[in-house]
Amino acid sequence: MKYFSKNQIENLPRIYRLNLINSSTGYKSANLIGTKSKNGNTNLAIFSSVTHLGSDPALISITLRPKTVSRHTYENMIETKVFTVNHIPEHYIADAHHTSAKYPKNFSEFDQTNLKPEYKKKFYPPYVKGSPVQLGCKFINEYYIKENDCSIIVASINDLFVEKEIIKEDGWLQLDKGKVVAVNGLDGYALPKLKKRLEYARPKKNHK
Ligand SMILES: Cc1cc2nc3c(=O)[nH]c(=O)nc-3n(C[C@H](O)[C@H](O)[C@H](O)COP(=O)(O)O)c2cc1C
Repeated sequence: MKYFSKNQIENLPRIYRLNLINSSTGYKSANLIGTKSKNGNTNLAIFSSVTHLGSDPALISITLRPKTVSRHTYENMIETKVFTVNHIPEHYIADAHHTSAKYPKNFSEFDQTNLKPEYKKKFYPPYVKGSPVQLGCKFINEYYIKENDCSIIVASINDLFVEKEIIKEDGWLQLDKGKVVAVNGLDGYALPKLKKRLEYARPKKNHK
């Protein structure tokens, strides 16, 4: 196998290190976060760090990059305390990726792509029309990570919309039925295919 020590990693060219380390922890979820500023400007951006934090209460976390440049999703989130999380189906990959481009704040990624806003249950920020799993979230807290100047947002799931075809009797979502993509690194999009679901794992009867 090819080996990298901590010292070698630190001395790699920036983009090579970014690609290597970003891919090294495995596939990540791909989500579009929809927000709207107080004065009505919509914003949409792709995030690969939306993670399940707990089910009871239903919480998610998002890792945000350092605020060394203007971060519109974060600013809108802090201003309004609400945002949406939208899974990305295969046919939205190119537009979803494009939302990472740095447009000025008064430009909406909804106008720069074919992605369409959708408003439901009088929730202030837009969902992404056609996304098979949509979460309406409320900001709860922000934790600063002093080691790399990032921060982790903790939010609650307030509304949850799921396409009927992908939800099973026990509440489990078969994401491949919605053609939901995952991210490999920062620019590789994969379409996972379910192999099997397994029973709750218990210790073997005669375990060593
Ligand atoms: C695949 C992918 C995943 C990304 N994930 C994150 C992330 O988890 N956190 C983050 O702060 N930025 C992430 N970004 C970068 C944002 O999409 C980018 O900074 C975007 O311009 C933010 O838009 P905003 O300023 O409108 O919020 C990611 C970009 C790509 C292409």
